[in-house]
Amino acid sequence: MIKFLGFLFLVGRFVRAVEGDVHFYEFLLSEKNFTRLCSTKSMLVVNGSFPGPVIRVNKGDTVYVNVHNQGSYGLTIHWHGVKQPRNPWSDGPEYITQCPIEAGSNFTYEVIFSDEEGTLWWHAHSDWTRASVHGAIVVSPATEISRPFPEPDGEEIIVLGSWYSGDLNVLVDEDLRTGDDLPHSIAYTINGEPGDFCACSKETSYRWMVSYGKAYLLRVVNAAVSAELFFAIARHNLTVVGMDGHYIKPIVTNYIIISPGQTMDILLATNQSLGHYYMAARQFWSQDPSVPNFDHVNATAILQYEGNYSFPSSPLFPSTLPFYKDLQAVLSFTNRIRSLEREGHPVKVPLNITTRMYITLSLNDMPCRDTTCSATEDGKVFATSANNISWVNPSTDVLLAYYRNISGVYTTDFPDNPLSYYNFTSDNIPANIALTKQGTKVKVLNYNEAVEIVFQGTNLVGGASNHPMHLHGYSFFVVGTGSGNFDNKTDPKGFNLVDPPEVNTFGVPRNGWLAIRFLANNPGVWFWHCHMERHLTWGMDAAFVVKNGDTSKTSIRQPPAYLPPCRVPFRSWLQNSDGSDEKENESILI
Ligand code: C2O
Ligand code: CU
Repeated sequence: MIKFLGFLFLVGRFVRAVEGDVHFYEFLLSEKNFTRLCSTKSMLVVNGSFPGPVIRVNKGDTVYVNVHNQGSYGLTIHWHGVKQPRNPWSDGPEYITQCPIEAGSNFTYEVIFSDEEGTLWWHAHSDWTRASVHGAIVVSPATEISRPFPEPDGEEIIVLGSWYSGDLNVLVDEDLRTGDDLPHSIAYTINGEPGDFCACSKETSYRWMVSYGKAYLLRVVNAAVSAELFFAIARHNLTVVGMDGHYIKPIVTNYIIISPGQTMDILLATNQSLGHYYMAARQFWSQDPSVPNFDHVNATAILQYEGNYSFPSSPLFPSTLPFYKDLQAVLSFTNRIRSLEREGHPVKVPLNITTRMYITLSLNDMPCRDTTCSATEDGKVFATSANNISWVNPSTDVLLAYYRNISGVYTTDFPDNPLSYYNFTSDNIPANIALTKQGTKVKVLNYNEAVEIVFQGTNLVGGASNHPMHLHGYSFFVVGTGSGNFDNKTDPKGFNLVDPPEVNTFGVPRNGWLAIRFLANNPGVWFWHCHMERHLTWGMDAAFVVKNGDTSKTSIRQPPAYLPPCRVPFRSWLQNSDGSDEKENESILI
């Protein structure tokens, strides 16, 4: 092992000496007991901690992460927001770019950074394991001058998470089998702790000690499984300067809204009277306002000034934290997000679009295929879809099938447009169009294709909600967004082609649309999906296959010498079989 690492180290040094440094991390995955909200359960975590370890690099570095799976089930890790030029082999989503790292085995990821600068994160990309398997990635500027603000006096990482009771993957599998609703969290956490307002939690609330009169850089990650979150700090303004590893024009605000998958870099001046202040996170609920069953917990942590002073027994709660259904607060924050244009960093929005796609995002019904759907009376189960295709994981990953020309794994007919048009955002959509098809359909893009996608939220089965859409392997420009049905004559006139934000995850508003653009200059297989795990699990996912360019520098790299073997995934036999499970343990080792 040491020899092997040494070898990698030399190779890495040799190849990447000009471009950046090489780092090595060991991720040891194992079950550990955690006690929150008065009860103890075992969860899979990395190196014994929740949230997991922080990866620190400079812009343009490469990191080798050796993942040792000492848990009891297979999983993969994804490096969220790292573009990994030409290297889909280490992107991570299971059954898209690799098969799971089985219990008792290990796999080394080669994580290649390029233009990202700021905060990103990593998380498991298998079932709902990411609830406990995630952590932050800090990408510092290669040289201090490239930072568009003075070097901060200190830094802090805030990872927002979700807490569930019970064994999450068991619950998810059970719900998929019976057709029941997927699990809801019982609390949110800040750096692993729910905070003072939750039972049995006060002693362990997360505390951040600061000194007066300083400028801090706060790195916020929304690692919650299925919730957009408001976040605010009592009495303190936040200046948001970066998002998803790219700088933005500074936004001075007294709260943020952050979608699952997003990261934000925020400057904070400690200029308030010595004391302690709550930092608080609360869910934004974008679905039907009459639905009451969402997680109402206010997660808190404490910002505490150092020094000798007397302070009131209870910290101040941020009065600026918006309420659960405050759509106006969401819009007024998100509409302010703009790319930072400056010397040497032009905003490269594609202008001559060569591929246009219009993609509906829906909640759907799906017929139950066997007698185990006990949760539903009408024989239908939950599903979600993109252009009325509900994604089904294949049993060999799409990348390997593409690279080795293995047929029968996926098809290349993901539609560019909805198959049927109706008033997508109406309150009275006929129920008989709510059924979705299933498939493993990808869209093939030529190298350097200039792509525009308009995502259209629908109100099928009355299930309209926000969908934070995430694209692997790229960042994209958000050129427009609006409510209602997208109008392809009038709406493009309002597109922002000057300073649109460059991100990897952005919300499609409830009953509205989002227009994004990107240049397909990263060959590979790249997953895209809603980052609400509930919607991802039900099928609001698909993938791009981006073909190679003409040269080796514009082609996919060689696969690593070892790739985890592929076996038939649980969910694919569940959804595709006629109820027999004989394929469950059948290996197809390729
Ligand atoms: Cu952060 Cu495909 O995920
Ligand atoms: Cu969604």
